[in-house]
Parts: sequence; C-alpha cells; structure tokens
Amino acid sequence: MDTVLVTGGTGHLGRDVVARLKPSHHVRVLARSPGSDPDVEWIRGDLATGEGITAAVSGAQVIVHAATLSPAARRGFLLPVDFWRSPPDVDVDGTRRLLDAAARAGVAHFAHVSIVGVDRARIPYMRVKHTAEGLVSAGRVPWSILRATQFHWLTDRMLGKAARLPVMALPTDLRTQPVDSRDFAAYLVGRLAEGPGGHCADFGGPEVLTLGELLATWQRIRGRRRRLLRVPVPSAVGRAARDLTCPQGNRGTVTWAEWLRTHPPE
Ligand SMILES: NC(=O)c1ccc[n+]([C@@H]2O[C@H](COP(=O)([O-])OP(=O)(O)OC[C@H]3O[C@@H](n4cnc5c(N)ncnc54)[C@H](OP(=O)(O)O)[C@@H]3O)[C@@H](O)[C@H]2O)c1
Repeated sequence: MDTVLVTGGTGHLGRDVVARLKPSHHVRVLARSPGSDPDVEWIRGDLATGEGITAAVSGAQVIVHAATLSPAARRGFLLPVDFWRSPPDVDVDGTRRLLDAAARAGVAHFAHVSIVGVDRARIPYMRVKHTAEGLVSAGRVPWSILRATQFHWLTDRMLGKAARLPVMALPTDLRTQPVDSRDFAAYLVGRLAEGPGGHCADFGGPEVLTLGELLATWQRIRGRRRRLLRVPVPSAVGRAARDLTCPQGNRGTVTWAEWLRTHPPE
C-alpha cells in the first residue's frame, strides 16, 4: 500500500483528499496542529519553518501538496494589502523545502494543487501560486499540477463576510465557476493512479454563473437579504475573471445551490 503524504490535510481540500485516500492508502499528514483520526499518520510540522518535513517525506511514494497560506481566504474578504503582497512563506518557500526533501527521499510523484488561470492573474496570491508551479515543474521530482476554480466554501465565506455590511457592493457581472472541493478531490485522487501527468486538465464547477446569480442563490438559501450596490466591471477585470473559469475543462457535479443546501455556514 503506497504511503501518500498530504500537506494541508487539515484544510478544506486536504480533508476531502485524505477521506478519499484512506480506504486504499497509508495516509500521512504534515500539520501544524495534528488531528486525532487514528487512521492517519500525523507528523507535526510547519512548511514555513521546515519543521517535520524530512520525517514527513521519508518513505512516501506520493505527495499531494495542498497546503497554502492565503490571508484573504482566511479572513474571507480582501484588504488593500492583498493587491500589493501575499506572503510566500508556505506556497513558495515551503514548496521549495518540500520539493528538496522529496528529491532527496526519492518520492515518485509530487501532485501540486493550483488554481485555474494562475498564469494569467495578476493579484499577488495568484503570482505566488504561479511561482510555486514553476518550482514544481522545474524540479527533480516527477510531477503533476492540478488546477481548480474557486471552491464553494470560499465563495460562501466571502459572501457571508460581505453580508455583515448593510449594503453589499459587488461586481455582479463577474463570471465565476465555483466547485465543490470534494469533486476536485475525487478528480485529483483519480489522477494519482495514472502517475505523474505534468500539467493536467483544469477542473471547474458544473455551472458558469455571474456573481449576481451566485448571490441571488446564496440569499435565497441562506435567508440573508441585504441591499445590493452593483459595481460596474471594467472590461479588463471581466476578462481577468473569465480567465479564472474553465468552461471547456473537467467539471464537478455539485452545483452551488446543492452545496449550500447541504453545508451550513461555517
Ligand atoms: N480555496 C479555493 O477556492 C481554491 C481554489 C482552487 C485551488 N485552491 C488550492 O487548493 C489548495 C487547498 O486550498 P484550501 O481551500 O483547502 O485551503 P485551506 O482550507 O485554507 O487549507 C490550507 C491548509 O494549509 C495548511 N497550512 C497553512 N500554513 C501551513 C504551514 N505553515 N505549514 C503546514 N501547513 C500549513 C493549513 O493548516 P492549518 O490548519 O495549520 O492552518 C490547512 O491545512 C491550495 O493549494 C489552494 O491554492 C484553493
């Protein structure tokens, strides 16, 4: 039974990947705060400092690298600083450390999780993710890069934060294609069986929706009504948002509405 190391195994996608892998693999998770699941081998560690990385990769045949640090995603809203800088500690420096350790340990497959359109997007977090992709593809460990569109949980969190204000000012014409992280985890685990695949096909949600359509569904299902201020979308921003969708790519099955009905707010 292959040993698969999952970084970010306590996060949204990582938990789904771990759940999919457990029945057929020995699953190891590198985590700053190890969990209690006895079916997982927990290694305490931190990608930002290097703690635990050597032990985590030792004897692993496959690494699923799903750890990330996005301050905007954590807080659920953007601040001006997010358009200027994103910390590279985990996604760039941590990825480099992990790749070096993986090469030394002879890991056979490094599966790196990334974001659709990351090569064209300009915001700092996306540039950090794109830099990480470059490290993976230039590295010595056979690799796959698997990109997804925005996860439902993050869209839900961001709308929940925006709804704390009396007026929601949103660019309602922006196109989005949110996806269930469980659908993406299933795709990712399926790809692992095929071995290192380089740049894999993009993966997105089943529907391409405007932010206005997303919001209407969210308000109906979450029962939250706020006054809406429609912010016009400059054409360059509209194009940039379209780059983050993949209507021609692989698609999940769980719609935004279905996901909201089955997931209470966090
Ligand atoms: N969210 C989206 O919409 C989206 C869309 C497409 C692709 N992705 C990509 O999918 C992957 C997973 O995203 P997610 O949404 O599941 O993120 P998430 O829920 O925020 O999980 C991030 C994970 O990274 C771990 N982590 C953070 N800093 C760490 C450190 N210093 N050392 C070790 N682990 C650390 C976190 O552990 P702690 O619990 O210790 O913080 C957590 O387990 C990322 O590569 C992300 O770029 C995300």
